[in-house]
Amino acid sequence: MKRSRAEARRRQLEKISKAIEKKLPKKLDQPPDNPVEFVEKWLGIKATEYQRKLAEAFVKPYLTIVVRWSRQSGKSYFIALLLTWYALNHPSVVIGVVGPSLRQSKLYIQRINGLLLRISRQYYEWPQRKTIVRFKNGSLIEAFPNNPETIRGHTLHLVCWTEMNFTSDDLDMYDAISYTMATTNGIFIGESTPWTRSHLFYRTFTDDEAYPPSEVFRSHVSWREAQKPKGPIEPKFIERKRKETASDPSRWQREMEAEWAEDEDLYFPLDLASKCIGTEKNFGEDLQYIPEEVLLT
Ligand SMILES: Nc1ncnc2c1ncn2[C@@H]1O[C@H](COP(=O)(O)OP(=O)(O)OP(=O)(O)O)[C@@H](O)[C@H]1O
Ligand SMILES: [Mg+2]
Repeated sequence: MKRSRAEARRRQLEKISKAIEKKLPKKLDQPPDNPVEFVEKWLGIKATEYQRKLAEAFVKPYLTIVVRWSRQSGKSYFIALLLTWYALNHPSVVIGVVGPSLRQSKLYIQRINGLLLRISRQYYEWPQRKTIVRFKNGSLIEAFPNNPETIRGHTLHLVCWTEMNFTSDDLDMYDAISYTMATTNGIFIGESTPWTRSHLFYRTFTDDEAYPPSEVFRSHVSWREAQKPKGPIEPKFIERKRKETASDPSRWQREMEAEWAEDEDLYFPLDLASKCIGTEKNFGEDLQYIPEEVLLT
């Protein structure tokens, strides 16, 4: 009688300890050293050829990387993946995302949050937030508004500047960014489709002395490399855009060829237009984005 009671207790204890074991965090796997392998094995995403080349430059590492790819070719998507891989692989790093407005830099956070849902919550903090992603290894990715003052004073290990060519006050912003990485040997990635030539983004591609190609990784991708099956863009979309932009070839050149175009015939030069974008710095707050469909109705 006594023995069977002891046996029942033992079994009960075993059950409890198994349940506890299940709840305890398992030893976490380290993400692969190669970001392309990471996106493929952990997230089921196959990088395109030009995305692979970008990943190679990123791990090399080039400390300055500029990405001039056509619309919808996967700039933000793939760079968001690179930032995520970097944060998971490097404990206690701080990554900043800046852009023409906080809305645009927050899109990165939204995208990263979505991608993270594919991996265990043991790697990142829950619940997810709109302007910051915190990882359990102490790293974080934070979205900043278009205001150099807000990043001054931070120490960053990696900065992504999205829609760089569309961001006003480019020199002020770049200056603020470079100081945040003065002690970390941080990596700078600027991504955009081309817009105005009187912008730092243009100079990073054209001024070989200030931005020598041996130190600055420049990537240019047009619709040709980015269309299916090589890239994500539907050939039908490309044909539609070609027709839509027939009367405005400079739009096609900028958005699909990812080349700068002349804008002399424009009533308002592009750089003047870019100075008029309301930002936290010049306007007190980022202008709220109103989708085209809403404006037109
Ligand atoms: N390697 C890939 N595999 C699958 N889908 C991809 C890949 N790269 C990009 N995409 C898809 O292509 C779409 C466009 O990507 P993304 O928004 O990053 O383009 P973009 O170049 O930043 O565009 P935009 O110029 O409009 O900002 C996304 O919806 C993304 O899901
Ligand atoms: Mg984008």
